[in-house]
Amino acid sequence: MKLVIGIVRPEKTNEVLEALYRAEVRGFSMSRVQGHGGEFDRVETYRGTTVRVGLTEKVRFEIAVSDDFVEPTIEALCSGGQTGEVGDGKIFVLDLEQVVRIRSGETDNAAVTPVGA
Ligand SMILES: Nc1ncnc2c1ncn2[C@@H]1O[C@H](COP(=O)(O)OP(=O)(O)OP(=O)(O)O)[C@@H](O)[C@H]1O
Ligand SMILES: [Mg+2]
Repeated sequence: MKLVIGIVRPEKTNEVLEALYRAEVRGFSMSRVQGHGGEFDRVETYRGTTVRVGLTEKVRFEIAVSDDFVEPTIEALCSGGQTGEVGDGKIFVLDLEQVVRIRSGETDNAAVTPVGA
């Protein structure tokens, strides 16, 4: 199992959601984050201190998947999130040790499979 973290442009959220749905990925979390991807460094003065401002709004998807779903998930994030311009985002894939579905106590692959699938 892997935890796929995808950080994408907020305006690409709906396209990523559609691509994940088409890939039959049903469980995920998303949140709004601010990040820095090196695309610009703007120096501003804030209360007399010069600070480097380089944060952009992004949307962060966290998707726990069984091994079979790793590639489809990455493809969905790429196809839904890509504009081709700098700042399209990043994908991180982490080993995932354990998943537990609280309702049933199911663990691991059984717990990342949606109900009814
Ligand atoms: N090394 C990193 N660690 C954690 N988060 C990162 C890292 N690099 C980028 N991010 C996150 O991804 C967002 C988008 O990054 P960005 O698309 O600029 O990546 P990039 O590798 O610089 O690609 P590009 O060349 O397209 O700009 C950042 O705002 C930040 O939230
Ligand atoms: Mg960048």
